[in-house]
Amino acid sequence: MKKLTAIFLTFGLVIMLSSFVPQGEGEKPWDVPEEYQNMENPISLDNQEMVMIGKSLYSRNCKGCHGRKGEGDGPMARRLKAPIDDFTSCDFQNQSDGVIYYQSIIGRDEMPNYEKKIPNEEDRWALITYMRSMSECEE
Ligand code: HEC
Repeated sequence: MKKLTAIFLTFGLVIMLSSFVPQGEGEKPWDVPEEYQNMENPISLDNQEMVMIGKSLYSRNCKGCHGRKGEGDGPMARRLKAPIDDFTSCDFQNQSDGVIYYQSIIGRDEMPNYEKKIPNEEDRWALITYMRSMSECEE
């Protein structure tokens, strides 16, 4: 009987302790300042010229980590600690333009800041429009 009590106690302790294990870096939600949250993409998905500009910016700056199709499987992704989202997914695409802008241009931790590398506002939105074109979300 004593043995059974010990098993129950150990089991309880393991459950208790596991709730204290911190979440992985990439699991934490993005803290996006309000002035970014309400931004709207001025470029429409039909604007092929802008989508092409976005594509070339993406290939140059983002593909190495985020992958050719945005699925988070670029050759450099293996060395990263934070998990990367799949840009084709509804989870990602259901975020507002402003949130995606903040994540893409300001970044955090392992996600680099692109304010200097992509200084032009129109280029930034072209990039985000290209990321919208990756969507496979049909919700
Ligand atoms: C060095 C690798 C690397 C490069 C290059 C990179 N990213 Fe990221 N990116 C990451 C990582 C890692 C995360 C997850 C960071 C986190 O959650 O803390 C991330 C997150 C993001 C997110 C938020 C969604 C998610 O996957 O968590 C967006 C949007 C994003 N990146 C866009 C871009 C864009 C656009 C570029 C190019 C201009 C780019 N990234 C270049 C590594 C990279």
